[in-house]
Amino acid sequence: MTEPELVTQIHPLAQPALIVLAGATGDLGHRIAQHLLQRGARVRALVRPGNTKPAVETLRQQGATIVEVDFNDVGALTYACVDAACVVSAVSGLRDVIVDLQTRLLDAAVAAGVPRFIPSDYSIDFTKLPTGSNRNLDLRREFGQRLDGAPIAATSILNGMFMDLLTEQAPMVLFGVRRVLYWGSADQPLDFTTIANTAAFTAAAALDATTPRYLRVAGEVATVRGLQAAATTVTGRRFGRLRAGSLWLLKLMIQATRRLAPAPDEVFPPWQGMQYLHNMFTGAPKLAPLDNARYPEIRWTPLREVLATVP
Ligand SMILES: NC(=O)c1ccc[n+]([C@@H]2O[C@H](COP(=O)([O-])OP(=O)(O)OC[C@H]3O[C@@H](n4cnc5c(N)ncnc54)[C@H](OP(=O)(O)O)[C@@H]3O)[C@@H](O)[C@H]2O)c1
Repeated sequence: MTEPELVTQIHPLAQPALIVLAGATGDLGHRIAQHLLQRGARVRALVRPGNTKPAVETLRQQGATIVEVDFNDVGALTYACVDAACVVSAVSGLRDVIVDLQTRLLDAAVAAGVPRFIPSDYSIDFTKLPTGSNRNLDLRREFGQRLDGAPIAATSILNGMFMDLLTEQAPMVLFGVRRVLYWGSADQPLDFTTIANTAAFTAAAALDATTPRYLRVAGEVATVRGLQAAATTVTGRRFGRLRAGSLWLLKLMIQATRRLAPAPDEVFPPWQGMQYLHNMFTGAPKLAPLDNARYPEIRWTPLREVLATVP
């Protein structure tokens, strides 16, 4: 008797877990899908009708089932959620997505009898932040309250800042002038995790029926002095520090930037990035305790490896 025949005889109904994934065509989402498939899960990726991004075809080739669905239609979403062990959201957007779309997805998951939901949080610990200090995280807290009131188990993945941003948008490690730019204290510990590690952890959590309400991870916790040392080591050239000012000054700069360039429809306008940095430098959303050891097979990428990718 072959092994698959044996398995079918012992567990006649056993099938790999089915995970429904919204936002699978995004940067984080498609990596979550890949990790789920590598772990043997079945992935049903919900995509907007007519989505022609290359990620759709890649996901299909890798074994995901692509389901085009109208995200405004709770009935259609409910049908798309049937039989799932967990609904994972990795969508990105403002109120219409984070609160409104995710509420429809939540209602659909509940209606379909799905036992677990992972919202698109993937951030610093917004549960510890005052309302008004970060527009995007206020939306996550608002949706989180709806999630807490719903008859479904929820798990938020909190991972700090995507480490990858240090070599892209985040104006912290300034390679050109060899300085680490900061506000407040150079000794404030900050949480960083790569997008790849966040995806690997989320996939593991999606397949783990015992997860708590919040899971907190950080690929590396570093102060500004730590960033300075890491940048110096990987480049072989000494990096200094550049203190832009106090947290009060940063708050004033956020207000001024928001007034001058409000960009209300942009998900990540400059003033919102500044809010994120302000939050981090206050220390309030520091992640603790960390759940890094929960899935021992995940190797956490250190800062030095990410900084070393800068040519
Ligand atoms: N901690 C951090 O430093 C950090 C940094 C960046 C992002 N994040 C978070 O990570 C999560 C994923 O972000 P990402 O960078 O992977 O985003 P992304 O690449 O922009 O992908 C967004 C995904 O959401 C989908 N989506 C957006 N609006 C939609 C709508 N109205 N209806 C249906 N689908 C919609 C997109 O689908 P289409 O293909 O149809 O457009 C896409 O699949 C978000 O929660 C984001 O805030 C965290």
